[in-house]
Amino acid sequence: MGSIKGVILAGGLGARMLPVTKVTNKHLLPVYDKPMVFYPIQTMINAGIDEILLVTGGQHAGDFLQLLGDGRDLGVRKLQYTYQKGEGGIADALRLAEDFADGGRICVVLGDNIIQKNIRRAASDFAAQPRGAKILLKEVPDAERFGVAEVNGDRVVRIVEKPSRPATNLAVIGIYLYDAYVFEVIKTLKPSGRGELEITDVNNAYIRQGTLTYQVLDGWWSDAGTFDSLLRAGGLVRDQGANLVD
Ligand code: G1P
Repeated sequence: MGSIKGVILAGGLGARMLPVTKVTNKHLLPVYDKPMVFYPIQTMINAGIDEILLVTGGQHAGDFLQLLGDGRDLGVRKLQYTYQKGEGGIADALRLAEDFADGGRICVVLGDNIIQKNIRRAASDFAAQPRGAKILLKEVPDAERFGVAEVNGDRVVRIVEKPSRPATNLAVIGIYLYDAYVFEVIKTLKPSGRGELEITDVNNAYIRQGTLTYQVLDGWWSDAGTFDSLLRAGGLVRDQGANLVD
């Protein structure tokens, strides 16, 4: 098995952050002292993943090139870009990474997900896993905002996307490890109620296949895709640091 490649999803219309996202892409907004997209890139680098595909879209896609260039300043050995037309959801954006993955394994990070520590252990455990996928979970007070996992021992039994009454407080964070089966799953998906191909449906397909493993993330996790979570993430980064390696 070859090394894991990285896919950062930084598209979307930023509808939850209008009017700011009329003039920029959400993932270029500052989280404390850096553009949001720097954090998921550092998450990859810290896990030893230095070949990365950035998927973006919308009217400000060119700004990513201006900001990141060839990625070398951030430690990326090989940075590629692709463009998602429209807003088809996370799983639809991931579909664009099939050629890049080239039959190998990938780590997918949502561009607005920031972590205090790192995913080194999850990545190395996944590399040792014969096949399937691995997700990361985190206890949160507001699980209804996320994909919510029900677990039984070391197995994930079910994931429900944004349940009005969450069965647990375990949010599925936006960092996922997949084998190449992910692209077969995506081809079978149907749009959800919000008109998107859901990453939660992808993960539930792996549960059905019996090959989804999980880890509970160590350290804080925050999304930064709403005004409140952006503010919260900035404070956490300032006060506690982000992307720490031990
Ligand atoms: C997405 C996923 C959700 C996950 C979250 C993490 O939500 O659909 O399962 O918990 O990212 O940030 P969205 O940001 O599309 O609402």
